[in-house]
Amino acid sequence: MSLQNLTRFPRLELIGAPTALEYLPRLSDHLGREIFIKRDDTTPLAMGGNKLRKLEFLAAEALREGADTLVTAGAIQSNHVRQTAAVAAKLGLHCVALLENPIGTQAENYLTNGNRLLLDLFNVQVEMCAALDAPDAQLAEIAERLEAQGFRPYVVPVGGSNALGALGYVESALEIAGQCDEAARISSVIVASGSAGTHAGLAVGLELAMPGTELIGVTVSRTAEQQRPKVVKLQHDVATLLDTQVSDDILLWDDYFAPEYGMPNQAGNDAVKLVAELEGILLDPVYTGKAMAGLIDGINQKRFKDEGPVLFIHTGGAPALFAYHPHV
Ligand SMILES: Cc1ncc(COP(=O)(O)O)c(C=O)c1O
Repeated sequence: MSLQNLTRFPRLELIGAPTALEYLPRLSDHLGREIFIKRDDTTPLAMGGNKLRKLEFLAAEALREGADTLVTAGAIQSNHVRQTAAVAAKLGLHCVALLENPIGTQAENYLTNGNRLLLDLFNVQVEMCAALDAPDAQLAEIAERLEAQGFRPYVVPVGGSNALGALGYVESALEIAGQCDEAARISSVIVASGSAGTHAGLAVGLELAMPGTELIGVTVSRTAEQQRPKVVKLQHDVATLLDTQVSDDILLWDDYFAPEYGMPNQAGNDAVKLVAELEGILLDPVYTGKAMAGLIDGINQKRFKDEGPVLFIHTGGAPALFAYHPHV
């Protein structure tokens, strides 16, 4: 696979410049290990995050198909839905979002603040459901209804995680490889693994551009056994799209997401606090706090392949801090 294969796919320039790859001196001192961070929390639209990289490719396809509406789904506090809504607003498209309350909370801030507050600013048409238990079918049903009403919907899958969306993280991997040449030698890369597109795209890109670098996905919603087939399938779909081969060597740590998706835990909250007070960087309670808890524990328990520098992929999510305060 080469960069040329990737440039075959039309994309919108939502990101513009590469996001920074930075050294974290105070966290490194604290943990006794060199820690770097990829600042995908600072992608340029609507408080940033990893989904904009996927939406560069997905929204380009929506425009090519003549869509006038983006339809997607997620939790009430979904960062993915917020970023999809912002892209729709920027492109002058409608946005319909099917939301669930996965933790069944009635906490006021969860229901109305954080990402959910922003959806109203973007004029999203919000629909609620009891559970996103068959999201592809649920989204297809909404798209059908919208078509019958005369709209031209484009369905963005949950998390933007299909092969096309995951190309955004192949590109991120190539970007990281270029930055590491200049800035750092990285032994291990660690990222939150949810709908799996970020993890799968990075797996394909890093295997090509930084062979020998270990990639660890910290699960945020599933056991490793449940998550592995999702990542591997997507990884192979991306490889097929790019005409390349990949190994099935997917590493997952599932010790950090309890009690369940969307519910904070003490280690994750402690990691959010630690990175805020040492580096002035905001993580979130649902994804990056738990992934950082994995990084910290991974160092303490010697779970990484060696003692070399670790790169943390900051995938965003800080708007949810306001939704999760003071509790859910
Ligand atoms: C802040 C944040 N980090 C990580 C992820 C996980 O990325 P993926 O769904 O591609 O696995 C998400 C997904 O919603 C997210 O919002």
